[in-house]
Amino acid sequence: MRKATALREASSITGRATVGFLATALFLNAALSWGQEKASQPSRALGEVILPPPQTKGGLSLDEALARRRSIRQFTSQPLTLAEIGQLLWAAQGITEPNKGLRTSPSAGAMFPLEIYLLAPDGIFHYVPKGHRLERLGNEDKRRALAGGPSGASYLREAAVDIVVTGIVARTTVKFRADESTRYMQFEAGHVTQNVLLEATALGLGAVCVGGMSDAKVRQIIPLAAGEESLYIIPVGRPR
Ligand SMILES: Cc1cc2nc3c(=O)[nH]c(=O)nc-3n(C[C@H](O)[C@H](O)[C@H](O)COP(=O)(O)O)c2cc1C
Repeated sequence: MRKATALREASSITGRATVGFLATALFLNAALSWGQEKASQPSRALGEVILPPPQTKGGLSLDEALARRRSIRQFTSQPLTLAEIGQLLWAAQGITEPNKGLRTSPSAGAMFPLEIYLLAPDGIFHYVPKGHRLERLGNEDKRRALAGGPSGASYLREAAVDIVVTGIVARTTVKFRADESTRYMQFEAGHVTQNVLLEATALGLGAVCVGGMSDAKVRQIIPLAAGEESLYIIPVGRPR
């Protein structure tokens, strides 16, 4: 894991990439990538963002991140950089072994039932591990809607991004019994979430894992596939 200061320097080299940068990056990438997406499969995506390559050396030690991690529920209004967003999503599900597509988080039978979404000020995005990229699914800021309006959970509204972990258990039942598969998928959501919490800590950001959320509300906001269910939400931002 890498020190927040070093990462911020790297971001400034790439042009002070903030979440607002997503719009520009999408504009530049859409023309190149969209034809390919459409040719391979019917897609929900309105465009895509290639994330900066993850940093895999140096920085905060794992022990330091473990010692420092705390649930943070109050955030400043400062956005995250694109490099920080990329690093968080890589920690969640980034590919670390290209031959089999193995990832930063373990998965029972390597069936990978989980999907990761990002609610940011400028839209809704889906993380695609292959190619370390984001697909845009919507243009609106849905953090407030996820929180349940102005009186809802303030951490979901105020976080720079809300990371939503979902799962499709049918991917795991190909290999395991139904009861095992449900359990494994939930374990995996825990692995992913802990990775994100530790990465946030290593980047000097604040985060909390939220299990008390409404699957119905997530469904109203994110176009989930049939059989896909929401499992965890991780608001992440700069600690206030
Ligand atoms: C399964 C699970 C669900 C949680 N759900 C919520 C939640 O809905 N809202 C919240 O504010 N914190 C939630 N938390 C965070 C806990 O409140 C927090 O981990 C606990 O108070 C210990 O504090 P620490 O994380 O700083 O060590 C959840 C934690 C876990 C493990």
